[in-house]
Amino acid sequence: MCGIFGCLLEDGHAAKVILEGLKKLEYRGYDSVGIATLDARGIHVKKDKGKIAEVEARLSLSSLPGNLGIGHTRWATHGAPSQVNAHPHTDCTGAIAVVHNGVIENFMQLRSELEGRGHKFKSATDTEVIAHLVEEGIARGLPFLKAVIEAVKVIDGSYAIAVISVKEPDTIICARKESPLVIGIGDRTLYCASDIPAILPYTRKVAVIEDGEVVVLSKAGFKILKLDGTPVSRAPFIVQWSAEEAERGGYPHFMLKEIFEQPLAIKNTLRVPKVYLKLSSTILSDSKRLFLVAAGTSYHAGLAASYMLSSLAHISSTPVIASEFISLCNNTIDEETVVLAISQSGETADTLSAVRCAKEQGAKILSITNVVGSSITRLSDIYICTQAGPEVGVAATKTFTTQLTTLALLAIHVSMDRGLLTTSEAQELLDNLHKVPGFVDRTLKETEPLVKKVSDLYCNKNSFYFLGRGISVATALEGALKLKEISYIHAEGYPAGESKHGPIALIEDGFPCVFVAPPDETRANIVGNIMEMMARGAHIIALASEDDKEIEELSTHFLPMPREVYKYFTPIVYITPLQLLAYYSAVTLGYDPDKPRNLAKSVTVL
Ligand code: F6R
Repeated sequence: MCGIFGCLLEDGHAAKVILEGLKKLEYRGYDSVGIATLDARGIHVKKDKGKIAEVEARLSLSSLPGNLGIGHTRWATHGAPSQVNAHPHTDCTGAIAVVHNGVIENFMQLRSELEGRGHKFKSATDTEVIAHLVEEGIARGLPFLKAVIEAVKVIDGSYAIAVISVKEPDTIICARKESPLVIGIGDRTLYCASDIPAILPYTRKVAVIEDGEVVVLSKAGFKILKLDGTPVSRAPFIVQWSAEEAERGGYPHFMLKEIFEQPLAIKNTLRVPKVYLKLSSTILSDSKRLFLVAAGTSYHAGLAASYMLSSLAHISSTPVIASEFISLCNNTIDEETVVLAISQSGETADTLSAVRCAKEQGAKILSITNVVGSSITRLSDIYICTQAGPEVGVAATKTFTTQLTTLALLAIHVSMDRGLLTTSEAQELLDNLHKVPGFVDRTLKETEPLVKKVSDLYCNKNSFYFLGRGISVATALEGALKLKEISYIHAEGYPAGESKHGPIALIEDGFPCVFVAPPDETRANIVGNIMEMMARGAHIIALASEDDKEIEELSTHFLPMPREVYKYFTPIVYITPLQLLAYYSAVTLGYDPDKPRNLAKSVTVL
């Protein structure tokens, strides 16, 4: 996730306006920033690694000349945060500049083709291919608009782009596919941006650009077209939200916004280049000992992954809570050990100290993180980045489901590489995984009203149990963690089979027990566990397949889940109503779910 902003003023200083716009978008990424403006002398670019205020103080981005320009605040996906990788990116001649939010899946192939035709690349980003593709179009004699259209036609993946060219110095061309893009219509001024809050200080008149559309911003006004050139008529609307509401996309809290962003975050995460999966899969297959090391929510992702790896890839792994790793594993690490570290921030002190300890003893380090350039990525032999974008709410939501998505992809690839899945079996699993964003979307919409009712009824209880079997133990643990950290209700997650060995003693009339009960091989036993709890007066809140009439009848409250989710992907879908349960309980109790007490987004102490 990155932020893009562009503006075309009748006269005046575009760079100043762009800088202010980028500040509003900084929540979308903040590892580097840059602006390109255009005047009679050509394109001027200033960019660097660092937060907007730091880079502005160093380079004075806002002093760039010209009344037209584009800017970018970056959340690195391809290429570490650095001056050369910061946007805008330019073509070989410096006559075209591009900013981009999204991921270009086929950039390696496009880059090698462009290099083969003599183009010189300066950065390691996927975005730079766009500048060179537009350059080629213009060199072939195409008008600027046609050159941009031809460029986006060969791109696979997601993008919201803004492009400027000396060829048409009064024009900004934008295009969108699966990354957000809005335009703002002022009084003889035009703006483009990743979201509405960036534009609100200048105008409330906005048009939202849809997938597969291109927009031309020029002195003549704005024009929206489809990629085949068909004009699109779109009446702008007047934004009624306050600036503060607009930053949360109209949601009352970031946590809720981020819960509902999960379908898109998962979709983007599924775009991980295959080469990373291949390299990671080889490391995992060759390991003699595999530890999955993480803290908190990320540990729950690691726990789920241990079930995926053992079932799909026949690889035994030990999930270890990061702060326990050295005490538990120190004497068992050698060169044949692999540590798969999972951390959304990439900065958790417990996880870093485990990774450093393992690395010193020769272990290979593989990591999954949401932050390129974080400490964990620098210590890793190879890392995969989830594409959740910045998570503002302290409670991990979209970073958890994107970690699970990456781990599921990895398990499928290891299984394929070990010859345990035929190509068609693997394809079937991949097809199911690609449907998960849709399953999550449906689940959130269908269960939200039911979850609201459950939270109203039970948020005054002192205690909750969350129970599951098999891979659903991870979902149960995570559901309990979410509830306790956000709503301050005591909640325990347990393997359901273990509940009769002690926890059941606490059950009394009306005690809320959440059962995570997907239709896998653990279902029959979990029905038995539900009966045990019911017999002692517990109220059963069950998450089970929508067609599971038996569990529905046993439940006090039934949350129907999509039937088609493959059994090892269920945590990605089943956790989402439990995130909502934590959220609505906190809100009903009057707590701020974005800033739970005593917690920090990144825990950098041991
Ligand atoms: C819970 C939560 C924490 C983190 C934990 C590890 O909602 O956010 O439990 O999961 O502090 O953080 P990362 O993943 O950054 O290593």
